[in-house]
Amino acid sequence: MIAPSSIDQVFETARVEEVIGDFVQLKKAGSNFKGLSPFSDERSPSFMVSPVKQIWKDFSSGKGGNVVAFLMEHEHFTYPEAIKYLAKKYNIEIEETEQSNEQKEQANERESLYLVSEFANSYFKKILHKTDQGKSIGLSYFKERGFTEEIIKQFDLGYSLNDWQAFTDEALKKGYNIDYLQKTGLTIVKEDKRFDRFKGRVMFPIKSMSGRVLGFGGRILINDKKAAKYVNSPESDIYHKSKVLYGIYHAKQSIAKEDNCYLVEGYTDVIQFHQTGIKNVVSSSGTALTSEQIRLINRLTKNITVLFDGDAAGMRASLRGIDLILEQGMNVKVCSFPEGEDPDSFAKQNTLEELALYLDENAKDFIQFKASVLFEDSKNDPIRKAETVRDIVNSIAKIPDQIKKEIYIQECSKIMDISEEVLFSTLAQINKKEFQEENKTYQKEKKAFDVIRHEQPVAKVDVQYVLERKIIEILLLYGNKTEDFEDLMMKENDKGELVLEPVIHSSKVFEKVFLDLQDDEMQFSNDHFKTLYYAIIEALNQNPDFELKTFINTVDSEMGSEITTILMEDERYNLDDWERMNIFPKAKNSSIAQLVSETVLSLRCYLIDQKVKEFQQETLQNISDTNRNVLEEVKDYSGLKMLLSRKLNRVL
Ligand code: CTP
Ligand code: MN
Repeated sequence: MIAPSSIDQVFETARVEEVIGDFVQLKKAGSNFKGLSPFSDERSPSFMVSPVKQIWKDFSSGKGGNVVAFLMEHEHFTYPEAIKYLAKKYNIEIEETEQSNEQKEQANERESLYLVSEFANSYFKKILHKTDQGKSIGLSYFKERGFTEEIIKQFDLGYSLNDWQAFTDEALKKGYNIDYLQKTGLTIVKEDKRFDRFKGRVMFPIKSMSGRVLGFGGRILINDKKAAKYVNSPESDIYHKSKVLYGIYHAKQSIAKEDNCYLVEGYTDVIQFHQTGIKNVVSSSGTALTSEQIRLINRLTKNITVLFDGDAAGMRASLRGIDLILEQGMNVKVCSFPEGEDPDSFAKQNTLEELALYLDENAKDFIQFKASVLFEDSKNDPIRKAETVRDIVNSIAKIPDQIKKEIYIQECSKIMDISEEVLFSTLAQINKKEFQEENKTYQKEKKAFDVIRHEQPVAKVDVQYVLERKIIEILLLYGNKTEDFEDLMMKENDKGELVLEPVIHSSKVFEKVFLDLQDDEMQFSNDHFKTLYYAIIEALNQNPDFELKTFINTVDSEMGSEITTILMEDERYNLDDWERMNIFPKAKNSSIAQLVSETVLSLRCYLIDQKVKEFQQETLQNISDTNRNVLEEVKDYSGLKMLLSRKLNRVL
């Protein structure tokens, strides 16, 4: 259990923009930050972070919340995991009540898998650096490969003793559960026997974007044709091979900064690049790239450079996987190394300047590169030529940007010596086929939608909704502030006439709102707002030190998300939109008192308007027996409305 005081300290210290900035490339936009949603594939940013309010909102998925909510959503952390992560980031010492064995067992499974992996990582490191076998076999292997002590430490490399169950025994002795050892694959259980999966291998921990150990790759040290060169952790609740990139934790900042990501095949390529000084590099660990992996990169940059080992066959095979990258709207370059070299060996032989220069000079635009490879392959083979046209156009068709597509068609026409017309018509064929397929699903969806539409009339801009929402926002932001409010009071002047006179009185914003709305027996029409309204009023009423930041942390996640939505939704509209919708609160910085009065008045006016309309309709329907009372009421309301209008300085 984490002590509440530690949790408070974490919330006080953590800055939502800094935490999110580690995962999403944020750009300043007014008083907020904007970026591409990390929760969906999108091309124009709809993800917002408010440093002032300390919240974030993803308009594409609807998710939002405070800094902890982000980590829970994005890293799939549990609440305590998120708090611990933040504590680590901000060097806050967490006060924790020691867990009993029973509690250890109860701690949720994923957390246990993380813990076991973390333990294994520190164990393998200890073996590498502190034992004779580790030093003479593991460490000397890494040194032979040219890895410095510093880089070995930086990447947390380790060594697993050449012993059937040295690791497993140690883990059990330390109180780790055999179930979790098995589930992470660190231990292989066969009947009553237990084996260390990584026996006698040097260890490469595989980390998440946030630096948690998810799994391992272990490299064999002897030349054994029968044994696999690498053994990797199996899929588990915390390790999904298709969703991680080796090195992403170490590379993320540099990827964002350089606005480019190098993609290599192996663990050692990543490490050697780092050592040479190029840090924006990740590895797909020898398998075909998945869209999830590309999405990890896409959050940080739009540009990717795929580096091939220096063998032609491998490169040709990899060309195919690249269409997936194009699909996500990324710019792809490719670069190969001299025959027989891979990124690892090449980086090892060259200085940073030489390596950077080589990459700069040899990285080619993917489509152009593919076109020239295809051209070479099919130069003297008319039948292959037709295939290659389809192949290259298939890639071009994946690019979402229309203009880019056209430019590529023109370029490929030159490179492959094929007319633009042929390429365009092939593109049209591909598009048509795809469109037909999409259309099939669209038709189905449309039918389903039609049925619903009959039941639910399309909502017009709902003024009441917007105003109710604005009220909640005001309460959240300024509820606890004391302001001078100007009220118009009906007074008798010297001549005995009734006039309106401004009276200033000071009150807390939430009290003013509450009392004003109570005057009209106003009820929120939206249930969510209603619940929120009473929750906030109550919190404000009970706690003179009400703070938005702490309030969000006390409500349940649904309400927390609702609050974030409200606070952030506001950022989307500028004043123009408000005016267009016939709602007229002034800009927030004009004056809080004014904003409060005008919003409440607007809502009251609106409600009165509605009442008047209701009455008028009733009256029209029963024109024969005109109801005196109704007319009186309408008159009353009209009078009140005029009064309100004057307060609003506006002709209604
Ligand atoms: N790989 C694997 N299992 C294998 C072989 C390879 O998982 N049996 C993965 C590893 O992630 C490896 C990557 O594919 O890093 C690239 O393979 P390879 O080029 O053979 O390995 P390198 O990392 O280059 O290792 P080394 O330089 O030590 O040969
Ligand atoms: Mn390699």
